[in-house]
Amino acid sequence: MADKETAVMLIREAQKAREMAYVPYSHFRVGAALLTEEGRVYTGCNIENAAYGPSNCAERTAFFKAVSEGERSFRAIAVVGAGDTDQEKYAAPCGICRQVMAEFCRPEEFEIIIANMAGEYYTRTLGELLPDGFGPANLAGRPDV
Ligand code: THU
Repeated sequence: MADKETAVMLIREAQKAREMAYVPYSHFRVGAALLTEEGRVYTGCNIENAAYGPSNCAERTAFFKAVSEGERSFRAIAVVGAGDTDQEKYAAPCGICRQVMAEFCRPEEFEIIIANMAGEYYTRTLGELLPDGFGPANLAGRPDV
């Protein structure tokens, strides 16, 4: 579990990243801050698209930035969704983002910090948000994996 100081730091980083959200369609800003095992932080925002389908969530932006820089081990992610008119609201990661997390993170250990713009938060493990998930272990042992 991330200590309180770490959670507060990640939430601030997610709030800052949220300002960069590109959301001309939903106007729903989301920011994320992903903590690696070694203590580095990668941030992300949601990036929407006129064709809608190619839109990317803040959490996946943070993961893809980190993985593309060579990171493979993660401890926690903070997510801040909404807030312009509603400081109290929370946004938990969508199903696709949970699946991306399952590719790289141990369900019982990876911590998801769901925060609002007021800085309040609650935490869930990935296993709590994605029970009985399908992951790399399901493919282990196949000759071509
Ligand atoms: N969104 C995120 O970035 N993260 C979430 O956890 C939920 C949804 C984005 C996708 C889209 O740009 C907007 O929020 C509205 O769904």
